[in-house]
Amino acid sequence: MKLPRLLIPSAFIVAASLVFAAEENPIKKAMQYAHKAPQGEKKIGDKIGEGTATEAEVKATLDAYKAMENCKPARGEQAAFKEKVAKLIGATEEVLAKKDGAAANYRAAVNCKACHSEHKPEAKK
Ligand code: HEC
Repeated sequence: MKLPRLLIPSAFIVAASLVFAAEENPIKKAMQYAHKAPQGEKKIGDKIGEGTATEAEVKATLDAYKAMENCKPARGEQAAFKEKVAKLIGATEEVLAKKDGAAANYRAAVNCKACHSEHKPEAKK
């Protein structure tokens, strides 16, 4: 029986490439980490805006934002996207540094609608 030997590796490659596709888009990763939460849980981004996120959460959010800074968004101009992300990074760094007013700055920078309407495919928000 030679067939299974041929099938197993190709099934493995398909599975691996599916995993890779989800990992590949740092924008989605950042959104899923910071801007989405299971039902009944607060989004980490909301906690940052309230000043209740842990330092580890703020750090991980900062890393996730940094990973999306040089990504090409699915829609709109890369330069405009980068500018928004840079603001978000700056605001998150201030939260991490515990600057006065940092949480309010973060709330202003994390404008879902302003960014989605320009850069998210088929903007629904
Ligand atoms: C600086 C830009 C920017 C900001 C700010 C932003 N988003 Fe996004 N978001 C995007 C982009 C771009 C996508 C589309 C990613 C893709 O599909 O390639 C996206 C996608 C998403 C997704 C779908 C993720 C997925 O797995 O497909 C969710 C959920 C989301 N955003 C939530 C939010 C919420 C909630 C906020 C505000 C608290 C927010 N985002 C703020 C740029 C932004």
